[in-house]
Amino acid sequence: MKNSASSLNGKNKFLVLGCGFSGSFFAKKIRQLGYTALTSSRSEKKDPNSFVFNSEEDLLPNKEIFDGVTHILSCIPPDKNGNDPVLKSLKDKLKSLSLEWVGYLSTTGVYGHSKGDWVSEIDEPKPFQQRSHKRLNCEKEWIRSGLPVQIFRLPGIYGPGRSTFEAIKNKKIRVISKKNQVFSRIHVADITNAIIYLLQNKNSLKFYQIINIADDLPCSQIEVIQYCYDFLGLTMPKPILFEDAKEELSPIAKSFWMENRRVSNKLLCETLGYKLIYKNYKIGLKNCYLNS
Ligand SMILES: NC(=O)c1ccc[n+]([C@@H]2O[C@H](COP(=O)([O-])OP(=O)(O)OC[C@H]3O[C@@H](n4cnc5c(N)ncnc54)[C@H](OP(=O)(O)O)[C@@H]3O)[C@@H](O)[C@H]2O)c1
Repeated sequence: MKNSASSLNGKNKFLVLGCGFSGSFFAKKIRQLGYTALTSSRSEKKDPNSFVFNSEEDLLPNKEIFDGVTHILSCIPPDKNGNDPVLKSLKDKLKSLSLEWVGYLSTTGVYGHSKGDWVSEIDEPKPFQQRSHKRLNCEKEWIRSGLPVQIFRLPGIYGPGRSTFEAIKNKKIRVISKKNQVFSRIHVADITNAIIYLLQNKNSLKFYQIINIADDLPCSQIEVIQYCYDFLGLTMPKPILFEDAKEELSPIAKSFWMENRRVSNKLLCETLGYKLIYKNYKIGLKNCYLNS
């Protein structure tokens, strides 16, 4: 297995598998830098740079899509059976290519519940939720694939168009309070920029196969919601105690409150020297407000 990311040059061609929130942001930035980036979606799009890939319906990309591909970023979560859609449908194809680098967006859910303590890449993952067990299995399968993969563990992703401001505007906000509960988060621009930073500085940086991308300030949801209401000059609704709210929450929403951890970014930001654009939710949310 190649165990180093490659530095970038004009001949690089990226496939971004899963052009959702993070994938589309990444592809846009890659193109701005002058590289080619094709993106997948489950259904046909008008965009000439888009192609169809849907593992559930066995809709696979035409083979020309893979011509000259050097870099792949997978932003696709495990399927309902816990399989990785890309590896399930395309592993042999990917292994037949001369890939220099493969990135895989994973989640910090694999760390499980640390009772509010910091978690870092050297901690043994202790998934708590069923979906996090599936995710960890997908990470392991990517590593076993022998592809030159780098795994990025992400906490809650926010950015323009997907932030607490939209939740307030769409009246989807629930102000819930749970003592000592914190969440980590990351602005979508920092996911893209951190990955590009690692690729561009490959020759001078040690290669790490698993890297957290999180901001500097894990904190309670209420702090973030209060900040947005203050920013908008509105009054925040009275918080509801988690114990009183939990029966009304969807199973997925409830599950997020069952884990409490602070995600360390020391490997990325201290050891590897990446400088966050949005170090905390306050500056990140200002950017969201200005760009939504
Ligand atoms: N959202 C968060 O807060 C968060 C936090 C931590 C980690 N993550 C993980 O990070 C990754 C990127 O997150 P995101 O929020 O940017 O993702 P997203 O917006 O939900 O996009 C997911 C993409 O995967 C594609 N996809 C899903 N199932 C597929 C399948 N079976 N076959 C082919 N394509 C499939 C979707 O296709 P369509 O475009 O056609 O829908 C979409 O482009 C995901 O793995 C996500 O689980 C997310």
